[in-house]
Amino acid sequence: MKVLIVGGGGREHALAWKAIQSPLISELHVAPGNPGIGRFAWCHPHVKATDYDALADLAQKLHPDLVIIGPDDALAAGLADRLQALGIRVFGPTQAAARLEWSKDFAKEIMTKAGVPTAAYGSFTDYETARAYLELQGAPIVIKADGLALGKGVSVCQTMAEAEEALKAVMLDKAFGAAGAKVIMEELMEGEEVSLLCFSDGRTIKQMVAAQDHKRADDGDTGPNTGGMGTYAPVPAYTPDIARTVQKRILEPIIAAMANRGTPFVGCLFAGLMLTADGPKVVEFNARFGDPEAQVVLPLLQNDLLEVMTACLNGRLKEIDLRFRDNAAAVNIVLASPGYPGAYPKGLPIDGLDEADQLGVTVFHAGTAYDEEGMLVTSGGRVLGVMAMGADLPAALARAYLGVDAIQFEGKQFRRDIGWRSLSK
Ligand code: AMP
Ligand code: GLY
Repeated sequence: MKVLIVGGGGREHALAWKAIQSPLISELHVAPGNPGIGRFAWCHPHVKATDYDALADLAQKLHPDLVIIGPDDALAAGLADRLQALGIRVFGPTQAAARLEWSKDFAKEIMTKAGVPTAAYGSFTDYETARAYLELQGAPIVIKADGLALGKGVSVCQTMAEAEEALKAVMLDKAFGAAGAKVIMEELMEGEEVSLLCFSDGRTIKQMVAAQDHKRADDGDTGPNTGGMGTYAPVPAYTPDIARTVQKRILEPIIAAMANRGTPFVGCLFAGLMLTADGPKVVEFNARFGDPEAQVVLPLLQNDLLEVMTACLNGRLKEIDLRFRDNAAAVNIVLASPGYPGAYPKGLPIDGLDEADQLGVTVFHAGTAYDEEGMLVTSGGRVLGVMAMGADLPAALARAYLGVDAIQFEGKQFRRDIGWRSLSK
């Protein structure tokens, strides 16, 4: 199979790393890709993941058997529809199905209709009405911009003052532009958060192993929110009992509701779940693999990724026996630029990747580039992910942190406490 992956971050590196292990692969292309992916696949660095014309041209030229779309904005913009119209098979939902991610209001509405457990909410386009709802509900409360806002459109407000400020920022100051034309206010849910990635063929949905992300920049879940500083899988708190409840009460009703609307969801459905005292509830849906969740879930997947994706496109996921490594854990520690998620320098030389390789870790690239002299340098906020597997979480962590120590760049920033929730039990 000739495969084209769209994207150039750590998630796409993990997808490419897994795809290249498939006996079905004959040629692997990634647009734009990154220096890590370039070691084993054809990268198209000039074709940006947001340049849909260039991507459509490339896909037409290559004629791949399968395109895998990584990033949310490409799905929201309808790249899957566009490629399908060219007769190209795509793993990734249509724009209408990806609406589960690009409109939080839509996701809430469909959950409510299908009786899926989620936080009670109100949605508003008018500031005064929203204010009145806030007065009625009081704090704590969660305020969200409706659209895609690079993961920054959500404020968890403990006090009324915080809530008033957040509401103003979204609705009056338009801090998130058009994404904030509509605002959602919802009940604060308490519990442990897990990321559940699932394969769906539009009718059947199968869960991957559950993962946990660490969104705050600093140890002990302090500091500003980031795109994710590290992940591990599996999550012991996500028990087989909870998995059965999630399947029956959340995943199957959502997949059925999307199919009944004539917009079946084919691709990776990512359910952000809160394990509350009243059972699992949905925080949000994403229409794609998580980043950095994919970096720990895909290494534990025993099936051939291309076989599973093809089964999804053929409506035959039911026939696939999805298997994950037993008695194994995977962790991915993110190495970020100094200052991230705020302003950060670029172009810092990176050393020690060969040493890390010899320690048995896998280094996924995210924000790296070659400079004019061909040296590997930093080029983004999240620079690298150091992934290791082990017989259990402590073993995987020990190995991953050896890899982290082997890699050097100025001001390297990372969390030392990935997995602390599970370790402290
Ligand atoms: P989202 O972009 O919807 O995933 O929200 C970002 C983060 O905000 C989530 O990962 C949660 O940690 C937090 N969050 C969102 N909604 C709620 C809620 N209703 N209750 C508690 N935390 C929430
Ligand atoms: N790690 C969270 C996300 O991919 O949205």
